[in-house]
Amino acid sequence: MGILQTVSEDKALLAATVCFGVVGAFFTAVKAFSFFKMILDVLVVPGISLSKFGAGKGSWAVITGASDGIGKEFASQLAKKKFNLLLVSRTESKLQALAKELEQAHGIQTKTYAMDFTRGNESDYSNLGQIINTIEVGVLVNNVGTNHDIPTPFDEESNETIANIVEVNINGTLKISKLVIPQMKARRSGLILNLGSFSGLVATPYLSVYSAGKAFLSTWSQALGSELAGDGIVVEHINTYFVVSAMSKIRRPTFMIPMPKPYVASVLAKIGVAGGSSVPFSSTPYLGHALFAWVIENLATTGFVVKQNYAMQKDIRRRALRKREREAQQGKKTE
Ligand SMILES: NC(=O)c1ccc[n+]([C@@H]2O[C@H](COP(=O)([O-])OP(=O)(O)OC[C@H]3O[C@@H](n4cnc5c(N)ncnc54)[C@H](OP(=O)(O)O)[C@@H]3O)[C@@H](O)[C@H]2O)c1
Repeated sequence: MGILQTVSEDKALLAATVCFGVVGAFFTAVKAFSFFKMILDVLVVPGISLSKFGAGKGSWAVITGASDGIGKEFASQLAKKKFNLLLVSRTESKLQALAKELEQAHGIQTKTYAMDFTRGNESDYSNLGQIINTIEVGVLVNNVGTNHDIPTPFDEESNETIANIVEVNINGTLKISKLVIPQMKARRSGLILNLGSFSGLVATPYLSVYSAGKAFLSTWSQALGSELAGDGIVVEHINTYFVVSAMSKIRRPTFMIPMPKPYVASVLAKIGVAGGSSVPFSSTPYLGHALFAWVIENLATTGFVVKQNYAMQKDIRRRALRKREREAQQGKKTE
């Protein structure tokens, strides 16, 4: 009896070990496959060619927030691909200078429209709509974005900043897209790129409205992408970690934080390729960002990353407040 019991206990232990082994091997294989696919996507798989959206055939690209940072780089690289450009941002002089430079360098046509998205002015959208109706839009880059000045607890944030973020990052994107989609649908061709952020992938405390607004863009891109796929329109949410720019306040590039030029090149080379993103209609095309996204999604829990983000933003806030204090004191001394 004793021997029989020991044999059956051994069998149960063996069966349990085999089961755990199989589950573990399956889990490891799934993770290894997703890592391998991410690397393959980022380094090897080609994206949809921009010629599908009319590059070099008289098509136009509409770029919001086109006068600086990532948007300016989209303008340069799409001009190089021979798209005509409609450039939109606040500062007419910057738009004019960029338009002239790109016309001369690439022999393209340009139009500019200066508007402040924070105003949510219906006449701006109506004017822009009239311009858009005179051109064939192949590409829309919903790039314009604004952020909290410094990381700030939600209840201490000004109503003005909260309203501006919603108006620019969400309403602006929705309204411009509505102006462009009908003609893309009619031609059964078009590309809509929505500039997202890792802060939309995992919440960033102290940048709560910006973070939630970017999550909105991610979800909206999935819904819109599904709706428009049958109409020949590609919608892609670009899941972006830090890039050197005025908004990020980062001046020096690293492996993880590229300059706008290589970043935008990676986006345009990988249209329709997921890269490091596991979210439908979303792409994380830049190697450093894709590796980080993979780690966040596969090796960490959301709760852990939110905690890390909270600690990081708290520290940034502390340093930003100290800087403000120093500047205020220097200002007093020079008075
Ligand atoms: N840089 C990053 O690390 C990072 C990371 C994740 C996501 N993103 C996203 O990428 C996009 C571009 O960011 P960026 O870093 O390139 O920003 P940026 O360098 O600050 O450039 C912002 C552009 O938008 C225009 N703009 C700003 N506010 C505007 C307004 N109220 N109305 C009209 N135009 C306005 C600016 O031109 P004017 O001043 O002339 O208007 C400028 O052309 C944003 O959607 C941002 O959320 C950036």
